[in-house]
Amino acid sequence: MNEKQLAGEKAVEFVKSGMILGLGTGSTVYFTIVKIGELVKNGLQIKAVSTSAATTHLAESLGIPLVSINEVESIDLTIDGADEVDKQFNAIKGGGGALFFEKVVALASKQVIWVVDSRKRVEQLGQFPLPVEVTKFGHTHVLSRLAALGLNPAVRKVDGQPYLTDSGNYIIDLHIGKIERPSELNDTLNAMTGVVEHGLFLKVAQTVIVGSNGAADVLS
Ligand code: A5P
Repeated sequence: MNEKQLAGEKAVEFVKSGMILGLGTGSTVYFTIVKIGELVKNGLQIKAVSTSAATTHLAESLGIPLVSINEVESIDLTIDGADEVDKQFNAIKGGGGALFFEKVVALASKQVIWVVDSRKRVEQLGQFPLPVEVTKFGHTHVLSRLAALGLNPAVRKVDGQPYLTDSGNYIIDLHIGKIERPSELNDTLNAMTGVVEHGLFLKVAQTVIVGSNGAADVLS
């Protein structure tokens, strides 16, 4: 079993009947969602909030009952992937472009678990490009401001065209290398007009499950 599958399936042990779950996006939480689908077929009673069109599609294909985030007061447990996680459980997310909905869902959750393979654990964040979701309107100006801060921004493209998020926004990836002060950068990006959301998730998760060496380590 590969590391993603080990981590993804381990997280299902935290799921209890009656829960409202947040379902993340990506190739690791895919294994979680498939397993939850099997449990639902066998009678597990849960409802789930999705973080992307891709996850909605997957959950529907598995018969997992979905509910809108606007219809729930809170989410009991969200399980999601991440692109980099440091020792303080700060993370970069959004490699798959779903960071905005992922952050909304995570912040509405009582408990958050990230499932990652061992390569995602880092000493310092920043090697993975930090995604920033921006409005189309005026995005060139946001790009200039990010460049002026030395953050090496680049508009994410697919087949030569700007990548579009599920909300119809663009993503600017910041090629920083090393993020020395994540909290300061978080504040800077939060304060920038035209930025919808960014992929720095600081102390959002209480538990990280890491697939490595044929096992899944639960860190909390
Ligand atoms: C989606 O936008 C991301 O935040 C994913 O959660 C993250 O990129 C991890 O994806 P993988 O599990 O596919 O690496």
